[in-house]
Amino acid sequence: MRQTRRARAKARHTGSLAVFPGSFDPITNGHLDIIERSLSVFDQVVVAILVNLEKSPLFSVEERVEIIRQVFREYPNVEVETFGGLLVDYARGKRASAIVRGLRAVSDFEYEFQMALMNRHLEPTLETVFMMPAEQYTYLSSRLIKEVFSLGGEVRGLVPPVVEEWMRKKQGAGAG
Ligand code: PNS
Repeated sequence: MRQTRRARAKARHTGSLAVFPGSFDPITNGHLDIIERSLSVFDQVVVAILVNLEKSPLFSVEERVEIIRQVFREYPNVEVETFGGLLVDYARGKRASAIVRGLRAVSDFEYEFQMALMNRHLEPTLETVFMMPAEQYTYLSSRLIKEVFSLGGEVRGLVPPVVEEWMRKKQGAGAG
């Protein structure tokens, strides 16, 4: 296993790359905080949106790609992509140094721990790195943002302005 790890490190692109996977329906300021923190550790971050046909999302995968690209348009070191199938296969294809996940509270831990260990079982050379968001984002989730917005609550300061605009557009189109 040590050799495999060394071989991977050698084959890697010049800079370090982290894959930040998720649903991002929609991306929140908590996600942005984790991406910013990741950029202080890794040279490049790929925001990888899971294509999940089972869920009925607020935004289509194409819309989420567009939204996140708009949010990070001034960041040359943030890419936005979609993936299907196993995360470890996608990360291997990207020659990623690590998977990044945010940990907001103890309640996240069990699910994240299971995923990280399953991913390690599938690909022992790929590490999962957990990052804690700023305290003011620890209660934020995409699900709550959608709920609050759909019930007429204020989401300013919780999502990037671009996301708020897109949510208003959706609402205007009759989906919110
Ligand atoms: O934002 P989310 O919904 O918590 O993200 C979950 C995600 C996309 C990270 C997770 O569902 C995932 O990695 N799915 C890909 C399928 C996979 O690799 N499953 C086995 C690993 S546990």
